[in-house]
Amino acid sequence: MTLLAVAGGTGQAGSAVVREALARGYEVRSFSRRLPAPAAAIEGVDYVAADAATGEGLAAALDGAHAVVDALEGRGRAAQRVFPEAGRRLLAAAHGSGLQRAVMLSIAQCDQAPFGYYRSKVAKEEVYDAAKLPTVVVRAAQFHSLLAEIFAYGSRLHVVASLRGAQMQPIDVADVARALVDAAAEELPGHLRRTVSGPETKPVRDFAQEWRTAVGSTARILDLPMPVRFFSQRRNIAPGTAFGTTTFAQWLEGLRGA
Ligand SMILES: NC(=O)c1ccc[n+]([C@@H]2O[C@H](COP(=O)([O-])OP(=O)(O)OC[C@H]3O[C@@H](n4cnc5c(N)ncnc54)[C@H](OP(=O)(O)O)[C@@H]3O)[C@@H](O)[C@H]2O)c1
Repeated sequence: MTLLAVAGGTGQAGSAVVREALARGYEVRSFSRRLPAPAAAIEGVDYVAADAATGEGLAAALDGAHAVVDALEGRGRAAQRVFPEAGRRLLAAAHGSGLQRAVMLSIAQCDQAPFGYYRSKVAKEEVYDAAKLPTVVVRAAQFHSLLAEIFAYGSRLHVVASLRGAQMQPIDVADVARALVDAAAEELPGHLRRTVSGPETKPVRDFAQEWRTAVGSTARILDLPMPVRFFSQRRNIAPGTAFGTTTFAQWLEGLRGA
């Protein structure tokens, strides 16, 4: 059986990758700094501890794997500083262990945004582009869960925050996982890039309205002025990249059934 290593396999995107890979018949090893609590562990997964930032445990985590999907997260300034380097460590270990491919999860249009967090993604993508083994960078649009989180946050103050005139093309993390496992299975040489977004590109206000309806919120939608050109000039939109099949409304409906 082919072994897929998932860096950050205990996280939101990583655990979706783990589930997708198991469903496709892969053997799966997840690594992260902390092991999951028994109740959160997915049956059949080999969970090991490794730290991409220090390199500790990486060689063992990758041993015998065909490919690695990097779904690591580095929020906060300190983490953003080390993450490109963590990518370098991961790729060096992957090359040393004879892996055929490394796949990085990045963010759609990250090179168009002035935010430090997005710049750290671009810096890490560059590390992937210079790797000694074939790589695929999969840039994903904002997850449905992120939009829901933003709407829920404002609603504590009885407003649902929207961005005046801005559009989004959010995607279900399960669809992102599909794209990542597809990429891990490819046999193309070199360094590839692709962007995946959800099935709909719509005003943020429309998504806010869908969220309001789904959760039964009476909070008022507040159209905030757009602070950066990334949104006002719709640089966050990647045309022609629809890949996900689950709409935001369908995803919200699924949460109710969960
Ligand atoms: N949210 C969105 O809308 C969105 C959209 C597009 C792309 N993305 C990208 O998707 C990626 C994953 O996001 P997520 O929300 O799934 O993150 P998450 O839930 O915070 O998961 C992060 C994972 O990385 C592990 N990790 C962090 N630092 C590590 C280290 N030094 N060594 C080993 N493991 C480490 C974490 O486990 P430990 O903490 O136990 O180590 C966890 O398993 C991010 O790069 C993000 O930018 C997100």
